[in-house]
Amino acid sequence: MIRRAGILLWLMLAPAFAGEAPTRSPAEVMDILMWNREPVGGPFELTDHTGKPRTNSDFRGKLMLVYFGFTYCPDVCPTDLQAIGLALDKLGTAADSVQPLFITVDPERDTAAHLAEYVAMFHPRLIGLTGSAEAIRKAADAYKVYYAKVDTPKDTVGYYTVDHTAYIYLMDREGNYLGFFPPGTSADRMVEIIRPRLGETAR
Ligand code: NI
Repeated sequence: MIRRAGILLWLMLAPAFAGEAPTRSPAEVMDILMWNREPVGGPFELTDHTGKPRTNSDFRGKLMLVYFGFTYCPDVCPTDLQAIGLALDKLGTAADSVQPLFITVDPERDTAAHLAEYVAMFHPRLIGLTGSAEAIRKAADAYKVYYAKVDTPKDTVGYYTVDHTAYIYLMDREGNYLGFFPPGTSADRMVEIIRPRLGETAR
């Protein structure tokens, strides 16, 4: 009887937690990326910071710089987003064919309105994307991103933080994976890698 009650409780709670638990460990996803063991990227259906529905196919014909993080992140995310913004500035008008995307791993707090304020701090062309817990987990799994909610002391904003891997993914004009920049990559290094790709057109 107790066991049945437990299963019933699980069935009732499971939908509420869908998408919340990480699918793989950080070591697993790093291993996959480092040794190219599985494809990276793929379709997503999310909402941008203006509230408009967006899918991966909206960005065909452009190179995509895809970054997963969250707006309450104290240091890594802002540093990397600053580097992305600076790289775009250094590329000048050529950067028009590069689309930077910031996909939140904290959809609970990162609403479209909240993302709108955040992305504007880094670059006018940076698009913030959010969605349901399930949609975000699906996109993160496709990009081999690890993230997990971690409780913090009660005096911290929102009472939790989110552990996450912070690679910057470079995708070609057809949405295929080209490679990743590790956290802390300089804007100059990004420009060096991106610039030769700008002359290429979609096949
Ligand atoms: Ni972060």
